[in-house]
Amino acid sequence: MIPRPARSANLGSGTTLADGMVIAASGPAQVVAALLATELEAATGWHVHRDGPDARNFHGVVRLEVKPVQSAGPESYHLRADESGIEIVAPSAAGLFYGTRTLRQLLPAALLRSAPAAAVTSVEVEGVEIEDSPRFAWRGVHLDVARHFFPKSFVLRLIDLASFHKLNVLHLHLTDDQGWRVQIDRYPRLTEVGAWRRQSPAGHDREHRYDGAPHGGFYTKDDLAEIVAYAARRFITVVPEIDMPGHMQAAVASYPELGNTGRPLEVSTDWGISEHVLNLEEPTVRFCSDVLEEIMDIFPGPYVHIGGDECPTTEWEASERARRRCQALGLPGAHQLQGWFTAQMAEVVAARGKALVAWDEVLEAGAPAGSVITVWRHQHARRNATEGASRGHDIVMAPETWTYFDWAYADDPREPVAIRPAISVEQAYSFEPVPAGLPPQLEHRVIGAQCQLWTEYVPTVHHAEYMYFPRVCALAEAVWSPRERHWDEFEPRLGEHTARLDALGVNYRPLEGPTPGQARTWPGPAL
Ligand code: ACM
Repeated sequence: MIPRPARSANLGSGTTLADGMVIAASGPAQVVAALLATELEAATGWHVHRDGPDARNFHGVVRLEVKPVQSAGPESYHLRADESGIEIVAPSAAGLFYGTRTLRQLLPAALLRSAPAAAVTSVEVEGVEIEDSPRFAWRGVHLDVARHFFPKSFVLRLIDLASFHKLNVLHLHLTDDQGWRVQIDRYPRLTEVGAWRRQSPAGHDREHRYDGAPHGGFYTKDDLAEIVAYAARRFITVVPEIDMPGHMQAAVASYPELGNTGRPLEVSTDWGISEHVLNLEEPTVRFCSDVLEEIMDIFPGPYVHIGGDECPTTEWEASERARRRCQALGLPGAHQLQGWFTAQMAEVVAARGKALVAWDEVLEAGAPAGSVITVWRHQHARRNATEGASRGHDIVMAPETWTYFDWAYADDPREPVAIRPAISVEQAYSFEPVPAGLPPQLEHRVIGAQCQLWTEYVPTVHHAEYMYFPRVCALAEAVWSPRERHWDEFEPRLGEHTARLDALGVNYRPLEGPTPGQARTWPGPAL
C-alpha cells in the first residue's frame, strides 16, 4: 500500500464483498459512501446498496462513520476488516475518504478499473486493522498549465490520481510569460491574446530550434468551478497561482500599458526568465488586484499564490517612470519595488480572509505577516525555511533537487528531453520535508511539501503522467507516512503498486527505464 499507513496489523479472517453488498453511512459520511459505491459499481458491475448506519450486521457490509476520535488528527481514520465486515471511522469526512482510499488498495488491483475486464463474482478482504493519519497537513502536487496548456479532463484525472495517493493540494500555475490560462471578465484580452503563442522551442531550448506551431488554450470560469468542485469532493484544495510581478509577459502582450517600455510584445515563445515584467504604476496595481478579486471568486480555498519568483529589475532600473514611482512611494530604489507590491497584494488577499502564498524570493524584502512561503531554491532551502519559519511564516517545502518532477529520471540519453538531469524515484523517495538543520522549535512551521511539474518540456498529458509517476508515489509517502522510511522497504511495495497504476491506466515510467514508446523521440544532443 502507498502511502504506507502509520500502523497496520493483520487480523485473522476477513470478509467477502459481493454483488448486493451494502455501504452503510449517514450524515457527513454519505458523500464519501456515494463516491465509493460509484467506484465499486463501475469496477465490478455489481449493485452496491447504500443504507443507514444501522444496516444489519450481515455479510460484506462496509460501515462508514464520522465521529470524534480522541487524540487523532483531523484527517485520521481507523479501518478494521474482520468477519463482521469493514468499518471505517474518522473524525472528519476527509479522514473517512482516506480510509476508503486505503480500502481500494486492500482490494485487488482489478477493482481500480473503470469497468470489469472479467466477471467479478466476489472479493476476499483479509482481516486487518489500520490506524492512520498524515504527517503533514499540506500534501501537494503542482501543475504548470502556462508553459503548456492541459485540458480540463487531465486536471480532473490528476485530481483522481493525487487523491488516490492521499494528497490534498493541487497548486495550479495559471499564468506565465508563455501563456495566460484563466478567463478574467474584466480583461478579456488576457485570454483573447495572452492564451496563445506563435510557436514553442523544439527539443531543448539550447538547441535554438522552434516548432513553428501555435499553442494555447485557457479555462473558462465554469471549467475552473467544475475543477474546484471535483477536487472538493476528493478533499483536494485547489491553490491558484497568478505569478506576479515577473513572469507576466503574456499579460503585457495583452495589455502593453502594463509593461515598462510601451513597445508591443508577443506572448513569449522562449523558455527561461523574461525581463518584461509589470510596471508597478497605480493602474497596474489595480489590474493585479482586480485579477485577484476574480480569482478569489472562482477559488473558494483559503490560499492564493502570487508567485513572486524570478523577477528581474532590469526594466525598472532603466525606467524613468519607475524611478519617479519609487520616489513617490518613498522607496530607495528598484530593488524595493517588489516588496512594496507584495505587501499591496497581501492586503487584497487578507481583505477576503485568505492567506497569500509566494515563492521564497519574497523573503528578501520581508514577506507580509501571515503569508505562506513555498521554499524551492535548493541551495538556500535550509536558510530560507529557517528565516521564514522564525519570522512566523508557515512553510511549504518544494526544494528543486527532490521535488521538481520536470527533471529527467536519469542522466541517460534514453530519457525524453527534460529541463535537466536528474531525480530518480529513489532520490524523490529520499526527500525529507523538514530540512536538515532547521531548529527543532521551528519544525511545526513546516506544514508540508509538494512536487512541481513545470511543463516547458512536457507538451502532452501522456508525458505529464510519465514525469509524475511513479515519483508522485514517492512524494506521497514523504508527506503522509511516518518519518522513518527506507527505500529498500519501499521499492518492492512500489513494484506491487504498479499493478494498481496499470489498472488505472497511468503512463508511469517503469522502474527499469522508459518503454520504447516513452523514450526520446526526436534527435538532439543528449542531456
Ligand atoms: C520557480 O521554479 N521559479 C519557482
